[in-house]
Amino acid sequence: MNIFNGDALVIRNIPIGQDAPDCRKITLEIPSLLTPQPGQFVHILVEKNSSLLLRRPFSIYDYRCKKISTEIDILFAVVGKGTRILAEKSPDDMVGFLGPLGKGFGINNTAKTILLVAGGVGIAPLYLLSKGYNSMNTSQKLILLFGAKSKAKLYGLRNFKKLGLSINIATEDGSIGKKGLVTELLEEHLRKLDPDTLKNIQLYCCGPDAMIEKIVKMVLDFNLSCEVSLEKRMACGLGACGGCVTKVFDNRNTFRYSRICIEGPVYNTTQLYYEGL
Ligand SMILES: Cc1cc2nc3c(=O)[nH]c(=O)nc-3n(C[C@H](O)[C@H](O)[C@H](O)COP(=O)(O)OP(=O)(O)OC[C@H]3O[C@@H](n4cnc5c(N)ncnc54)[C@H](O)[C@@H]3O)c2cc1C
Ligand code: FES
Repeated sequence: MNIFNGDALVIRNIPIGQDAPDCRKITLEIPSLLTPQPGQFVHILVEKNSSLLLRRPFSIYDYRCKKISTEIDILFAVVGKGTRILAEKSPDDMVGFLGPLGKGFGINNTAKTILLVAGGVGIAPLYLLSKGYNSMNTSQKLILLFGAKSKAKLYGLRNFKKLGLSINIATEDGSIGKKGLVTELLEEHLRKLDPDTLKNIQLYCCGPDAMIEKIVKMVLDFNLSCEVSLEKRMACGLGACGGCVTKVFDNRNTFRYSRICIEGPVYNTTQLYYEGL
């Protein structure tokens, strides 16, 4: 797998939609042919020679291979200093690019239903995954459960509609869809299904830690097959600093620390160790 470490050219940097002012899609041109897997991430140095020394990790939202280069799309929410600088980048600016990094989602060819669950900007890695399943032209049913604080934070929803997924929404303020959390939507959905349907579901999730923990519990209760993408703050992105760990089962049924940047960000939920679960 090719990894590129160098300068990337900003091609476009646009708001994802009129109603989501705090979220943008930036397109970078990488002078190398890359074939990232859904769920992998890139590590971006938003500005050289600035006080912001650390790179920022972002999922690969989409990509297109050109003759001798690759265009990578990143969907990002503006939450702090780094993403504010990224939001101000214009075409022809450069950013530092390292990636694709990490382990992405596995494809399940035998599941009858592919159930995607996203919380907020956790939607980002699920677009390339949905496109991948969509292009396989199988009879697999693709369902997205998408939750956010409000309608304006359902980033990129239109792109998923264009892929033809069946979509259910939850917002915490009730501005659209079910009022509440996406985990409640998921539980409601699962409770309606018979054991045979449950056995044939492949679940994929990305969102805040609290959402992931609830989902891991549900996966155990309903005996599901599930992969989750975890988000932790990262420094090196290459397994060297140990700053991005999560607990996973070791081979004696206790835990060890796993570096998300190299063993993840995608994990099968059977690997994850939570106290009391
Ligand atoms: C593997 C991976 C993939 C990611 N993919 C995306 C993506 O596709 N789109 C996107 O918008 N964001 C994504 N993130 C989160 C993104 O990296 C952070 O939002 C970003 O680094 C914030 O930088 P900042 O300088 O703007 O914020 P800071 O000023 O550093 O922090 C501002 C706020 O953001 C929180 N924050 C910072 N870093 C993270 C983090 N890694 N995870 C969760 N919260 C964080 C801080 O706690 C703080 O509340 C991803 C994170 C990881 C680990
Ligand atoms: S970010 Fe340094 S080990 Fe993961």
